[in-house]
Amino acid sequence: MMRWLIAIAGFAVFAASAHQETALKDLMPKGMVIGVALNQRQFDGVDAAAVDIITKQFSQISPENVLKFQPIHPAADRYAFEAADRFVQFGVDRRMQVVGHTLVWHSQTGAWVFQGTDGRPADRDMLLARMRDHIRTVVGRYKGRIHGWDVVNEAIDEDGSLRKSPWQVGIGDDYVAKAFEFAREADPDAELYYNDFNLEKPAKRAGVIKLVRDLQARNVRIDGIGNQGHWRLDTPTIDEIDTALVELHATGLKVMYTELDINLLPNIPRGADPSIANPYANGLPDEMQQQLARRYADVFRVFLKHRHAVTRVTLWGLSDADSWLNRGRLNYPLLWDRQRRPKPAFDAVVAALRNGK
Ligand code: G3I
Repeated sequence: MMRWLIAIAGFAVFAASAHQETALKDLMPKGMVIGVALNQRQFDGVDAAAVDIITKQFSQISPENVLKFQPIHPAADRYAFEAADRFVQFGVDRRMQVVGHTLVWHSQTGAWVFQGTDGRPADRDMLLARMRDHIRTVVGRYKGRIHGWDVVNEAIDEDGSLRKSPWQVGIGDDYVAKAFEFAREADPDAELYYNDFNLEKPAKRAGVIKLVRDLQARNVRIDGIGNQGHWRLDTPTIDEIDTALVELHATGLKVMYTELDINLLPNIPRGADPSIANPYANGLPDEMQQQLARRYADVFRVFLKHRHAVTRVTLWGLSDADSWLNRGRLNYPLLWDRQRRPKPAFDAVVAALRNGK
């Protein structure tokens, strides 16, 4: 009996150490990096356990919130760079690829940006001047330290048309091209990306491809398309992911999966019965762990199949505890659990990368 216990304990230590040794970044095919979105507790080193995993496993970082318009430029006459400087330094200190997210978006942008002096909406010239000042100041500050920028985020609506955002209403359809021009001016060496979600939906994808083709026709520099990848266990299908990837790459641009996570919770109306709304409040059943593992493995196999096209995969958070998808519930969309232990999904990604070599 004692011999059995020693054997099991021995195996557990071996398994744990095997986990310790395996680093996703070392398993990625040439030309494809793997990264993670960081929150402030992580890049400030408060969350030490996370810092160890991030440093070990990833070669790229994205800012979950700290480089967005609102937090970094809260008022017309005020920039707040302290936290953003620490985020960038976290990556520079670890020789990681640092990506900036995001310069022009309809969300997390202060209302003051769109207000004119006389209480009326800011006009085209004023809004362009504010956009240019913001991009020049922020991109200029991190010149040579930020590898690439999500210049514009989520400008296309589900039907493929240009979203009627305050930027589009105030400036006009060419606000996207202007943003890319200003970003290039501010750092001619930084890569410039367009970033969006639901790109497996044909109408939306067609809208993004039209926008990209328009920029290319205007000789406006754009280097890549960021497909956020906020997916579920069964939607989009692997075929839809594959088709979208091929079509996006046909624009000649790099394709990146920039905010990958797999949502396991049902979309439910507010106030729904918690047992339905929050089905895994007491932990994720092993069957669901296995389904999540299979989904991540299937998704990574598509990335490997198109390794010539996919240059980056970024997880939108390190562990289930860090995910935006919790929102008052318990979700399990990522590769590490709330105790920062690698999940079966982590092992499945490792196996897919090893087999896909
Ligand atoms: O920093 C304030 C804090 O001072 C305040 O006390 C607290 C309470 O309201 O809010 C904090 O701000 C929150 C911020 O996250 C930082 O935690 C905002 O309310 C909250 O809305 C914001 O959520 C972020 C969301 O973007 C905003 O749209 C999520 O963390 C972030 O994961 C999410 O990321 C987006 C990508 O940028 C673009 N694609 C979709 C993705 C998911 O929505």
